[in-house]
Amino acid sequence: MTGARQGPFSSLADMERAHAQKLALCDMLEAIADNLPRTDRLQCLAVAGGLLPLLRGCHRFEEELVFPAFLRREDGSDIVERLKLEHLEDDSAAADLSEVLLAHGHGQPIENPEAFGYMLRALFESMRRHIAFEHDHVLPVVLGLREDDSRKDP
Ligand SMILES: [Fe+2]
Repeated sequence: MTGARQGPFSSLADMERAHAQKLALCDMLEAIADNLPRTDRLQCLAVAGGLLPLLRGCHRFEEELVFPAFLRREDGSDIVERLKLEHLEDDSAAADLSEVLLAHGHGQPIENPEAFGYMLRALFESMRRHIAFEHDHVLPVVLGLREDDSRKDP
């Protein structure tokens, strides 16, 4: 692949790793939601610090390298537009959530645990769906490993 940029992600293996890191963050968000109204302030700070940089780095890599590679192999501009929109929505939700997590980590009480739980669940469910779609439908095309091809007999 040409034009690899500087940054945390420079190959498809990195993208797989980034997906794994994002899924681990989803698990942490879910754990925070499941324990409400009890919270671990240090965990909130850790998640707040990692969430946005990871999401933005991963989204930039996908939009600059992965999606163009996908479009060279498949007529999927609608799919790419939808995935880019989901990136924007998740970035925005993650920015809002990070603010709340940061404030709480620094001592501010959670005023409305139910609303906070909803914010957490909305983000990690959206991220998991998005990652699953890219893993199942985008990466196989980029790698030249369509599902139907890979399941054929040897
Ligand atoms: Fe993505």
